[in-house]
Amino acid sequence: MKKTLLISMVTAALVCVFALPSLYAVDAPGDMVLKAPAGAKMTKSPVAFSHKGHTALDCAKCHHKWDGKGEIKNCSVEGCHADTSKEGKKKPTSFYSAFHAKADTSCVGCHKAMKKAKKATGPTKCGDCHPKKK
Ligand code: HEC
Ligand code: HEC
Ligand code: HEC
Repeated sequence: MKKTLLISMVTAALVCVFALPSLYAVDAPGDMVLKAPAGAKMTKSPVAFSHKGHTALDCAKCHHKWDGKGEIKNCSVEGCHADTSKEGKKKPTSFYSAFHAKADTSCVGCHKAMKKAKKATGPTKCGDCHPKKK
């Protein structure tokens, strides 16, 4: 009797050890440099982004179309923020909107909202994210 109890406890412990990490099956990347998608003209300098420095936030805050388990896609995939045209800049589906829209899912939107709420946050000025090209 005691032996079966022990075995089931050990089994339960092992299940926990191996099953838990699968809750975070998608690993968060480290520091990255964000650029416009291939083929799009860049008028500003690339943006340094510490992904690890932002992971205290809910993943789905930024990856707002992610289902919580599958693959996490780039912002600029077709159907998301793929529009890099000058005319489409203001549209929610533009590449520009992904990073500057008012909604707090965007870099600037979130930083501005938090700044207004007097919380520690990231930069809101163009040049702080897009440093002048040397
Ligand atoms: C503050 C916003 C933000 C948060 C929070 C965030 N990410 Fe990201 N993540 C990004 C951005 C921006 C990219 C780059 C997307 C691109 O290149 O278009 C990215 C890219 C990724 C990628 C690579 C996708 C690819 O194919 O390029 C993975 C995987 C990822 N994030 C996982 C996570 C996980 C897991 C979490 C939660 C622990 C998380 N992210 C939280 C903003 C965020
Ligand atoms: C939902 C809110 C949110 C979003 C979205 C977000 N940030 Fe931030 N960001 C923060 C907070 C909070 C901090 C302050 C972290 C700290 O220092 O405690 C921060 C800090 C920063 C900093 C300064 C510190 C560092 O990590 O170097 C930079 C630069 C930055 N963010 C860039 C970005 C970029 C680029 C994006 C979009 C790809 C982005 N952030 C999206 C909340 C956000
Ligand atoms: C919190 C960081 C942040 C701030 C502040 C910011 N941007 Fe961006 N911007 C980004 C990110 C991230 C991208 C996407 C990566 C890239 O294209 O460099 C981007 C892309 C762009 C693009 C499209 C790509 C290109 O190079 O043409 C333009 C235009 C742009 N930003 C202009 C601005 C202007 C103008 C301001 C000030 C009003 C500004 N940004 C403020 C983060 C920021």
